Amino acid sequence: MQLQVNGQAHEVEAEADMPLLWVLRDELGMTGTKYGCGLAQCGACSVLVDGVITRSCVTPLDSVAGKAVTTIEAVEQDGIGKRVVDAWVRHQVPQCGYCQSGQVMAALALLKEKARPSQEDVRAAMVNLCRCGTYNAIHAALTDLAGLADTAAAAPAGGAQDAEGPSTATVAAAVAGGAAVVAGSAYLLARRGKAGETGQGAADGQEDA
Ligand code: FES
Ligand code: FES
Repeated sequence: MQLQVNGQAHEVEAEADMPLLWVLRDELGMTGTKYGCGLAQCGACSVLVDGVITRSCVTPLDSVAGKAVTTIEAVEQDGIGKRVVDAWVRHQVPQCGYCQSGQVMAALALLKEKARPSQEDVRAAMVNLCRCGTYNAIHAALTDLAGLADTAAAAPAGGAQDAEGPSTATVAAAVAGGAAVVAGSAYLLARRGKAGETGQGAADGQEDA
């Protein structure tokens, strides 16, 4: 099938239920989008599909037919994306960097939807996980981008998790991800089964960086 990625058409020969993340990384060689959990939980695999933030690890290929996929590779071709990257550099956000393409795509989606998001908008949108704990730096970069007063001190010290518990948006995202997890897990099991039959033991998507 034909896939539109970063403004270019690609002919892809892959199973209809292959997750978009696999197609991007293994078929098209776009390795900027990362594999984290494979379960729609961490957000490392975030891309935009028709401008909507999407977890590509649980998005079947056939569900994006005819839609515009945008990955981190093209983020600086977008004026807002360029501003996000500049702010990320200015605030020295990345540590190991593994989660950051997903974080940048989440910030891009937010700022495309709302040029001047509120602190609440920022907290609701920026729910991706970061094992290095860059949450305060992410908050500072977005505060800068949104032209908000610097309330970084009020940001949750532990990161995106609210001291009073997860936000409604976080819970909703987790619930929505649950259904996708089933499909993603079934795909992985099927792939592993095939690998076992052919003697290939490598776990899909585990390789990286
Ligand atoms: S890899 Fe974690 S949400 Fe997709
Ligand atoms: S910067 Fe290392 S996981 Fe986020």
